[in-house]
Amino acid sequence: MNNDESYTYENLSETAEFLLTRVPFKPSIGIICGSGMGCLADALENKKEFPYEIIPHFPVSTVPGHMGKLVFGYLSGIPVVCMQGRFHYYEGYPLWKCAMPVRVMKLIGVSHLIASNAAGGLNDKFKIGDIMLVKDHINMLGFAGNNPLKGPNDERFGPRFPPMNKAYNRELIDQGKKVARELGMGGMVHEGTYTCLGGPNFETVAELRMLKMLGADAVGMSTVHEVITARHCDMTVLAFSLITNICITDYECHDKPNHEEVMDVGKMRQDTLKLFVKKLVEYIAQH
Ligand code: 6GU
Repeated sequence: MNNDESYTYENLSETAEFLLTRVPFKPSIGIICGSGMGCLADALENKKEFPYEIIPHFPVSTVPGHMGKLVFGYLSGIPVVCMQGRFHYYEGYPLWKCAMPVRVMKLIGVSHLIASNAAGGLNDKFKIGDIMLVKDHINMLGFAGNNPLKGPNDERFGPRFPPMNKAYNRELIDQGKKVARELGMGGMVHEGTYTCLGGPNFETVAELRMLKMLGADAVGMSTVHEVITARHCDMTVLAFSLITNICITDYECHDKPNHEEVMDVGKMRQDTLKLFVKKLVEYIAQH
């Protein structure tokens, strides 16, 4: 399989079939756990876990802190499937490969996707540990012609030219804010635009200043290709960023962003995030 050749519908159906025959329930909600947020999956009940290396056609994750398994289980009695560890472009996979688990989720019967990530805060109002509900994205890799949907289109997944306005479900964003207020975390939840760069390096000061001018509120290295793939196959999407560091847009500042800091903030917020996602899952299941 070369870099331009995506999985076929049949490949991914095999993957879905492998999973469905081994799990006694069919989740309609999928969750992608961002850096340091893998514990969301640990909180599930009656878990059935599949390390990526045993799932047919799955790529294998290589980043520390990304456990690399698909976890099926119940959250508040509601069946869900979690990606504990995702695939990043900087690991060397083409975007269609990074996003393939989303199509597998679709074939399993998932209609709603909750995608989380760790991100650097560009908006001056954001503080470390805040949550940004994603209302829109800027697909930087897409500007250069790199897109998970590039290549022949299979209409069984979705249309050749899918729209991307309303990619992030408004009702779920509003519900996210409501849930945050109920949990007493209203002050730390914002709404904003996420942008994804390829990584693995963090951005330069000039790059961050540019992204800020373009209207980005948070920057990371994931999620956008997954959301494009999910919207292509008509899934309802909620995405949120955990702000793990504040982007340095000042040449006089001598701090350096690092992966440990990103993971530490994830750990610090893990209980809050677990509750937050649980409440959102309950809402989705009831509506
Ligand atoms: Cl500052 N940049 C990027 N690209 N990803 C991040 C980040 C920054 N902080 C957490 N993830």
